Amino acid sequence: MKYDGYIQSSDYEDLYFDIIQPNIINLNLLFAGFKPVKNKHYLELGFGMGRSLLTHAVSNEGHFVGTDFNENQVAFAKNICEQAKISNLTLYADSFEQLLERFRKMRAKGEEVSFDFIVLHGIYCWVNEENRQIILSIIKEFLREGGVVYISYNCLPGRATNMDARHIFKLYSQNENTENFDKIFSFTEKFAQLEPENTINKNILDTINTHRHSHPIYRIHEFLCDSWYLPYFSDMAETMKKLGDLNYICECVLAYHFKKFTPKQENFLAQINDVIFKEQMKDFILNKRFRYDLYGKELLKLSDKQIDDYLFYTQFVLLDYPTSHTFKDCEENLKWAYIELISRLENEDFTPKSAKTLMMGIDINQRVFFSLLINLMTLNLVGICMPNTTRKIDEVKFYNHSLLKNQKLSEEYIFACALTGGGISLDSLERAFLNHYFNENQMNLEELFERIYQNENFHFNDANNQACKDRESVFTQLSLHYKKFLRRLPILMKLEMF
Ligand SMILES: C[S@@+](CC[C@H](N)C(=O)[O-])C[C@H]1O[C@@H](n2cnc3c(N)ncnc32)[C@H](O)[C@@H]1O
Repeated sequence: MKYDGYIQSSDYEDLYFDIIQPNIINLNLLFAGFKPVKNKHYLELGFGMGRSLLTHAVSNEGHFVGTDFNENQVAFAKNICEQAKISNLTLYADSFEQLLERFRKMRAKGEEVSFDFIVLHGIYCWVNEENRQIILSIIKEFLREGGVVYISYNCLPGRATNMDARHIFKLYSQNENTENFDKIFSFTEKFAQLEPENTINKNILDTINTHRHSHPIYRIHEFLCDSWYLPYFSDMAETMKKLGDLNYICECVLAYHFKKFTPKQENFLAQINDVIFKEQMKDFILNKRFRYDLYGKELLKLSDKQIDDYLFYTQFVLLDYPTSHTFKDCEENLKWAYIELISRLENEDFTPKSAKTLMMGIDINQRVFFSLLINLMTLNLVGICMPNTTRKIDEVKFYNHSLLKNQKLSEEYIFACALTGGGISLDSLERAFLNHYFNENQMNLEELFERIYQNENFHFNDANNQACKDRESVFTQLSLHYKKFLRRLPILMKLEMF
C-alpha cells in the first residue's frame, strides 16, 4: 500500500541514530571550524518510530518537534511520550505538505515558528519530487539564521550499480502486486542468470546478494517506494545553495574529519580549491553510496584559536569499558594511548573531563589525540558531555525506568542520557541485571540466572565460542556477564541514567 508515493503497508523499524543528536551535530560543526548551535529548537521530518526524536527530546533542553504521516508510528511514539511525560516534544501525524501549511498558518497568526536544527534521515531519496520540493520549502521558510540542516541520502557514484536491480524489483512488485522479496529476488535472479557474465546482470546479482539477508522492512522501504532519487553530492549542495545561503559545512560523521587519503590522492585533491568540487572528487575516490550532509545558514566561522578553545574545553565521559578484543588489531603505541585515555576517564569516580585535561602529558599531537577520542566515541565507549538541568536528568530517569519495565524490547535497546544528550545502548542481559538490581527483593541472583537459563531468547557461547548446552556452562557465562555488568554499573549511575 502506498500513500503519496511512499510505502505505508509496513511500519518502519524502531531505530536510533546518534548522528542526529544535537551535541554530535555541534561537535561536527566544531571540527569543520564553525561555532556550535546554542539553542535547540529542533525539527525532525519523517521520524519513523520516533526513537531518535524521543531520546533527544527527553535528554536535552530546548523544544523538539517532529512529523511522520504513518499514523501507527506516530501513535507508538505518542504513547511513549505520554507515558514518560516528556515535556518538550510535539509530535504531528502530518504529511510534509500538511506540516508546511500548519507552520505557515501558525506564523500568519503571529506565532514564532523557526528552528535551529532541521534533520531528516532516510527520507529525501525515497519521497517523490513534489514532496522533495515541499521539504525544501520547509527548510527555506523555517530554518533560523545560524541554524543547521542535516540531510542523508543515497548518492552517486556508489549507488549507480544498484539502479537496474531496484528498477526491476519495483516493476515486478507493481505488476504482481507483491512486497514479498523472496518472489521479487527469485524473479530478478532468474533474469540475471540468463547471462550472468554481462556487467548489468553481475551488478543485479551483487545487489540481490547484498540484500538477501537484510531486514525485510528495510528492503520494502529502500526499494519499493515510487521514487529512488539518486543525486551526486554536488547537485545536492547546489539545491541547498539555491534555498538562500545554505552552505555545505561537512559530512556529519565524526570519523570522516580524520579520514586519510593516500599521498597520491592528497596531491590530486590539493589542486582543487572549490570546497564542493573537492568533496565531490572525494566521493569519486571513495565510491560513496550514502551521504550524511550538514548545511548551515549564516553560521559563524571560528578562528583556529577559537576552535582550539572550544575543543579543549569540551568534556568527555566514559560510557563503557572495552573488551579484551576491542584493541586487538591496534598498533602497540595506539593501544597504549587508548588504554591510557580510558584510565584517565575512569579516574576520580568517572567524573567527565575536558579534552585539555585528558591530553595533558600524553605525547601525541592534537589531531591524533582527537582522532583517538573520536574512535572511542565511534565504539560507544566514550561520550561527549554537556551540562544539563536537574529537571532533564529526572525526566531521563523516569523515561529509562519506564523502558526498563518493558520486557518486549529487542536485543540491543536505546536508553537516554541527559549528560551526553543522546542515547546509550544496553543489551537484554544488562537490562535483566538492572531490573534485578532495582528490585532485589523480588528474587535472588541464583533465581535470576535460572530464569534467564529457562528463557529461550537468551543464548550463550563459552570461551571457545561454542554454544553452551548445559545449565552449568550457562551459569558460568552468566556469572562472567554479571561481573562485567557490575563493573559498568557505576558508570551508568555516574551518567545519572537511573
Ligand atoms: C525510511 S523511513 C525513515 C524513518 C526515520 N527517519 C529513520 O531513519 O528511522 C521514512 C519515513 O518517512 C515517512 N514519510 C514518507 N513520506 C512522508 C510524507 N510525505 N510526509 C510525512 N512523512 C513521510 C514515512 O512514514 C517513514 O516513517
